[in-house]
Amino acid sequence: MAKLQRQLFELERAFIAGATTLVPRVGEPELKYLICQHVWESAGHGRFLRERGRELSGFGKSDSISDEIWKIFHEAAVANDEDKALAGFYRVLKPHLLATYRHYLETTHHLADWPSRKLVEEFISDEERHLEEIEPWLKSSDAIQAWCGHLRVALTSLPRSASKTPAIELPDSFRWFHAESPYQHPETCNRAPYPTCSSVFSEDPKETPIVRAWLQDPQTDPRTIRAMIYVWLMMELDAVDYLSTVFVETLQAPFDLHHDLARHLWDESRHSQFGFRQLPKLGFDLMTVEHSLDLYNILVKMPPAERYAMMTMEFEAGSFPIKAHIMDRVRELNDFEADTLLAFDRNDEQNHVRYGHQWLPTIMKLCGHEEPVEDFVKSTQANFAKMAELHGGKTPHALAPEERLTGEKILAGIS
Ligand SMILES: [Fe+2]
Ligand SMILES: [Fe+2]
Repeated sequence: MAKLQRQLFELERAFIAGATTLVPRVGEPELKYLICQHVWESAGHGRFLRERGRELSGFGKSDSISDEIWKIFHEAAVANDEDKALAGFYRVLKPHLLATYRHYLETTHHLADWPSRKLVEEFISDEERHLEEIEPWLKSSDAIQAWCGHLRVALTSLPRSASKTPAIELPDSFRWFHAESPYQHPETCNRAPYPTCSSVFSEDPKETPIVRAWLQDPQTDPRTIRAMIYVWLMMELDAVDYLSTVFVETLQAPFDLHHDLARHLWDESRHSQFGFRQLPKLGFDLMTVEHSLDLYNILVKMPPAERYAMMTMEFEAGSFPIKAHIMDRVRELNDFEADTLLAFDRNDEQNHVRYGHQWLPTIMKLCGHEEPVEDFVKSTQANFAKMAELHGGKTPHALAPEERLTGEKILAGIS
């Protein structure tokens, strides 16, 4: 049973590292949010499995994913389009995980293994719900079916420890695509069907929805501030896309690191939802809100440890004073929901900075950076400035000024 728990733990870990590669590739924010939620729930399953597993001898001391499991998830990640990739993870790998949980329930002893059973029953209902939640997003075509067939064959190479079903040898004709071209992050993130741009921040109310000076100006109407902070929060979708890229590049990380990254990812997806759900309620049409791609485009060109350092030590650590001011201004509106969302955002961000202090040294070590953290953060900031010159500002406005949401339109929209 401990071996089977171990396999479940590794499948959950592999799902976290593999499914996060879907996030920048799928366009719809709702789908990105859903994947982040599933990844976070998987991290919870993984943590409980490990906790229980460690009470049993035979679970093993290490946290790592075995090569034989990872290679199947890696294979799923190299699908050549996002619909195939999504179907591979959710029509083949997740059902395999669910079947393995069910197998566990069928074979374990109802009394001796009662504590694990209770957990597994819970996880099965989560897994069933995940499959229901994803169903509307899955597409069908011959190519998708063929890809899923390919992954099902790949899965037969896994030994089933507890069922004693031996691994089946793959046919000679079987080709591992990831062995020929390993997974690589997309150069830019997908936001279809929404319009895109480089940045939503500027000083020009005719150009972008967030006008920096207006955020600070005591004369600004608090309703304008509220709309601008919702745009800001919605744009934390860039953090969702670039944080997703860190998992697969830190496969050797301790599980606790990926657990906290998964929490961080889910938090950012919630922050983005705060804006995505509130803006339409205030009368703003989401199809007029351009999505900013600069941060993803720049950060994906930097090594993963630098990406994580910029995020936690620079963007998040530096955001508190302005966000505190925004919270004060929004409070003038007696909008309890807005206050609540902003309070949760601030609380989460404090945790993210804590994660940064805790995990940056580990990510640095994993990625071969030996210098002191402080020096690394300094050189990262310099590299970011260089990369921003090279790769920033390259996404033109998808919409003409009269079509897109700008500071001026927000001003007109609130009065
Ligand atoms: Fe956030
Ligand atoms: Fe954050």
